[in-house]
Amino acid sequence: MSTDVATMDKIVSLCRRRGFVFPSSEIYGGLGSTYDYGHYGVLTKNNIRSLWFSSMVQERDDIVALDSAVILNPRVWEASGHVEGFTDPLVDCRTCKLRFRADRLEDSQCGRKPSKKPGETPDCDLTEPRQFNLMFETSVGALAEGGSTAYLRPETAQGIFINFKNVLQLARRRPPFGIAQVGKSFRNEITPGNFLFRLREFEQMEMEFFVPPDEGERWHAYWIEERMRWYRELGLRDSQLRVREHGPDERSHYSLATSDIEYLYPIGWSELEGVAYRGEYDLRAHTEASGTKLEYVDPDGSRYTPHVIEPAVSIDRILLAVLIDAYAEEEVEGRERTLLRLRPSVAPVKAAVLPLISKADAGMVEPARRLYEELRVHHFVEYDDGGNIGRRYRRQDEIGTPWAFTIDDVTLEDGTVTVRDRDSLAQERLPLEGVLAWLDDALAR
Ligand code: GAP
Repeated sequence: MSTDVATMDKIVSLCRRRGFVFPSSEIYGGLGSTYDYGHYGVLTKNNIRSLWFSSMVQERDDIVALDSAVILNPRVWEASGHVEGFTDPLVDCRTCKLRFRADRLEDSQCGRKPSKKPGETPDCDLTEPRQFNLMFETSVGALAEGGSTAYLRPETAQGIFINFKNVLQLARRRPPFGIAQVGKSFRNEITPGNFLFRLREFEQMEMEFFVPPDEGERWHAYWIEERMRWYRELGLRDSQLRVREHGPDERSHYSLATSDIEYLYPIGWSELEGVAYRGEYDLRAHTEASGTKLEYVDPDGSRYTPHVIEPAVSIDRILLAVLIDAYAEEEVEGRERTLLRLRPSVAPVKAAVLPLISKADAGMVEPARRLYEELRVHHFVEYDDGGNIGRRYRRQDEIGTPWAFTIDDVTLEDGTVTVRDRDSLAQERLPLEGVLAWLDDALAR
């Protein structure tokens, strides 16, 4: 029987054990809330990115791609409101020297007595709250002088707005149309933590959809629905997903309306993706600050500033949700197994090829290698001859490999292999020469 047993500790441990994710700079003691992705993490992230990109760009004719720079002219961030307003209120404790978010004291732990909240013990000595900007500063050019201060982008969105005119002219688009971008964003988060949920460096996938102003609300509703559909298709269970509309006090300065798509992480319902209705805020702000008109001029001469709908998410938060959702523990014939029930499209490895006996004189290694070399040209597959077959199956189960092809003594007699299904554990036999077509077919389903 499978049970819903994923905890953050179990996911962290599986990611570590199987090489999905490592703490960054580990040999130097790490660096808070930055992580390095290992082989399976990279493959899974590539799959998520490519599924997002296909659904946003390849399968539509109203969205084009962009890859803008990470470091932009600092005036971009003045115009967008980030220099002034992208801040968190912080308090310092003069006793334990730790820093806390003033609006999250309830969720924080005192540095001296972790069972208490900051401010709860007689020794706590908190400062008044002050605003702290979340953007990482850097300097452009050889001299670190005041005039050369720049920022690592805290979102990919602004790179899209400042290219609105280029795309409108050169990609010959008219609203409604969108611009999609995937890339790293950086935030000096003060209460990071919860593994991949809140990072200081993360990979955003954002799409800005420009529409005639009177169509804004309709497109906002459309994108909430469309993004929910995409998550279901990714394999997230409906029971773990919900849409939550922001109250008026909660909305960002640019937002006319925002709904979060939330996932039931082990830390509780939390934002997976935000779908914001940004109105004309950004195009207007950059028009005023740059003097370049960012508007749409119709062939009939009428002009307007389009409104913007923005679905925005990070691959890191999706990966965390996908791993939690797929994680299962089962008892099979008296033995425990841990598995990731990942959709094949998301799974890092699509199939494993295993010789039942890995001694060369058993005759199984050679046909297994041949099959592996045939399959790997088309799909990410893995050859494994290390350890007993049960251990190899368990290893593949833990990284979510949907199928394993095993070469055994029957293969040597009649040229068939066993295919084992990760979830049902059902086994069937296939002719060796039909394995590639079978796998192509199974992945297309
Ligand atoms: N352009 C709008 C924007 O950036 P946001 O709500 O701050 O809005 C959008 O971020 C999405 O980016 C979030 O829903 C989340 O998926 C992801 N995200 C934001 N901050 C993150 C962080 N520190 N670590 C991981 N993902 C983050």
